[in-house]
Amino acid sequence: MFKEELSPEQLLKIIFEYTAKIASETELKRVLVLMANMGREMILSDRCTVWLIDDVHSELYTTVAHGVDEIRIPYGTGLVGSAITTGESIIIKDAYHDPRHNADNDRKTGYHTKSIITVPFRNNDGEIIGAYQAVNKLTEIDYFTERDLEMLTLAASYAGKSLESVMLHQEIVDTQREIISTMGEIGEIRSKETGNHVKRVAEYSYVLALGLGMDPAEAEVLRTVSPMHDIGKVAIPDAVLNKPGKLTDEEYDLIKSHTQIGYQLLKGSKRKLLSAAAIVAEQHHEKWDGNGYPNGRKGEEIHIFGRITAVADVFDALSAERVYKAAWPLERIEALFREERGRHFDPKVVDVFFRELPKLLEIRDRLTDVE
Ligand code: C2E
Ligand code: SIN
Ligand code: SIN
Ligand code: FE
Ligand code: FE
Repeated sequence: MFKEELSPEQLLKIIFEYTAKIASETELKRVLVLMANMGREMILSDRCTVWLIDDVHSELYTTVAHGVDEIRIPYGTGLVGSAITTGESIIIKDAYHDPRHNADNDRKTGYHTKSIITVPFRNNDGEIIGAYQAVNKLTEIDYFTERDLEMLTLAASYAGKSLESVMLHQEIVDTQREIISTMGEIGEIRSKETGNHVKRVAEYSYVLALGLGMDPAEAEVLRTVSPMHDIGKVAIPDAVLNKPGKLTDEEYDLIKSHTQIGYQLLKGSKRKLLSAAAIVAEQHHEKWDGNGYPNGRKGEEIHIFGRITAVADVFDALSAERVYKAAWPLERIEALFREERGRHFDPKVVDVFFRELPKLLEIRDRLTDVE
């Protein structure tokens, strides 16, 4: 029932396998899981946890610990806290004989912690950003040795560098999401549309994308960016945008420029989300038969994000009252989509629209506008 110490070959194999996986991973949570698993396998512990510092709340937290959910403890407490504040690794044969051990979690979970090893890790600037902690050695000698310390220190030095780049990546993605949702709201306010229009378009687009068999991560990208399709309307004068009734040709041309304006606003970015948003802003009024604007793109020359957002946007525009039109009853909307299948809209997207109509109507009801 005891495990045997690993040979150098076995250790190398673990290190190579995990470092390759970690290097290709961009999601923080998955990196933390891989790191915890790597640590556990390298030193034959029962559990391994990767702790990070939450500066804002002065806490230490872990999102992955073998056998437990997220845990948070005040900064500086417990063994992890000591390792992180002093920068020193700690090895303990029996936690219950050490005053630094915080036994709260054992009490909560019924788990019995005996041997512990804790190693802090640093980012590229040498600042401590977290700690590895492994619990309960599974070999016949039931405590961690100097060799385990060397192994975990090695894993920690790798972890520190990888985690920093993943966390930076995460921050960039979060920032983009924030910018996008703020911009979507600005566009919404400008065109006097009540609160939920952009939210509905986001949800409709997502349902349509999944219904088309799009990869869920890609569908999620569309869900995030489709609310920005009308961002270019920020540049259209109120008098035109909110004119009750028919537009003159000049006024309509001006409104049409919201596609190019939106594209110009967003196209400069190499960021994945912002460039997807640029595509949607530019292409959501293109038509499958080539008679749309601004570029008269045709069929699959129109990005799938544009073809989906077109359906979502028109469905919402017709369902709602606008300054220039009353809301349409559902039969009339359905008739338009049948009519425009293969003309305005990609036939495949229209087919999914009809298949998913119950879900779309449920979203419409849930995100209804309250006056
Ligand atoms: P929107 O109000 O969000 O409409 C988006 C799209 O939904 C329209 O793109 C059109 O494809 C479809 N749609 C909306 N209402 C109707 C309708 O009554 N009948 C039909 N068949 N389709 C409709 P479109 O036409 O390129 O218009 C782009 C934007 O230009 C509209 O966005 C709206 O902001 C503005 N707009 C268009 N027509 C008028 C108008 O007569 N008066 C005013 N004030 N604005 C208009
Ligand atoms: C709005 O666009 O939010 C008002 C019209 C609508 O309900 O879609
Ligand atoms: C608007 O355009 O007035 C909002 C609806 C839209 O085009 O999505
Ligand atoms: Fe538009
Ligand atoms: Fe729109």
